[in-house]
Amino acid sequence: MNGLNSTAKTFKDSVFRGQHTLPPIFYISILGTKSTGGKMEVSQAVKQRKSIRGFLPNPVEDKVLSTLLEKSSRAPSGGNVQPWRIYVINGSRMDDFKTHLANFSLSESEYPIYPPKLQEPYRTNRFELGEEMYKLLGIPREDKAARLANMAKNYDFFGAPAAFFCFIDRSMGAAQWSDLGMFLQTFMLLAEEAGLGTCPQEAWAMHHQAVSEFVSAPENEMIFCGISIGYPDWAQPVNSLESRRMPLEQWCTWA
Ligand SMILES: Cc1cc2nc3c(=O)[nH]c(=O)nc-3n(C[C@H](O)[C@H](O)[C@H](O)COP(=O)(O)O)c2cc1C
Repeated sequence: MNGLNSTAKTFKDSVFRGQHTLPPIFYISILGTKSTGGKMEVSQAVKQRKSIRGFLPNPVEDKVLSTLLEKSSRAPSGGNVQPWRIYVINGSRMDDFKTHLANFSLSESEYPIYPPKLQEPYRTNRFELGEEMYKLLGIPREDKAARLANMAKNYDFFGAPAAFFCFIDRSMGAAQWSDLGMFLQTFMLLAEEAGLGTCPQEAWAMHHQAVSEFVSAPENEMIFCGISIGYPDWAQPVNSLESRRMPLEQWCTWA
């Protein structure tokens, strides 16, 4: 990237693999790559974005979030319908939300998070991700309590100080749900450029009642997911997780 020599590239990659403990912004300035408010090549943002499951408590300004959201709305959507409906939780509202959440227990998601019977190779992909994560955390397969406790971190936004929930009108179909993905990935890449980490979380669909009530979502809207937002805590082993991808030949056909 931009004239970095190969040593710097290696160092930088290791920073983003979570092998260093300061937030990337420090290393970014050492390496001379602009981040917050600066420009990052799209390829670099795509490469280094990963789901962050451990955040520093450092606050994120409302203005930063509104700017990122506004920019994200350049995401494409079929017919330009722009079906995303976003509810932001930040600052003291995060404390209010957590107090509110304590009154609720988990329920069933209003949409199937996975198909009833996940086929191969999707099943294995999912299984391997879980195994790799629990291995990093030192949680054995049989320790159900520890696995559940780790899963519960979803409902603390993994310690993130900011978040938003993405809703959609119930009248929308599969095509508009895919538009949400366009918007969300655009947001996550822009957040990366701004030096922020994110984690998309369908887990929040199992708290739809608590979330809808808190954000005063109208009856016609349903939650898709939440996004945790904040500065990554690279000291947490979970953030060194590198999720795998299937090789191109497995999912791409030159027809
Ligand atoms: C729509 C969506 C929902 C997700 N829900 C969760 C979740 O509830 N909890 C979680 O820890 N990760 C969740 N993830 C993160 C995925 O596990 C992650 O994207 C995947 O393993 C690939 O890893 P990467 O994001 O680090 O590249 C979600 C991702 C997406 C796109």
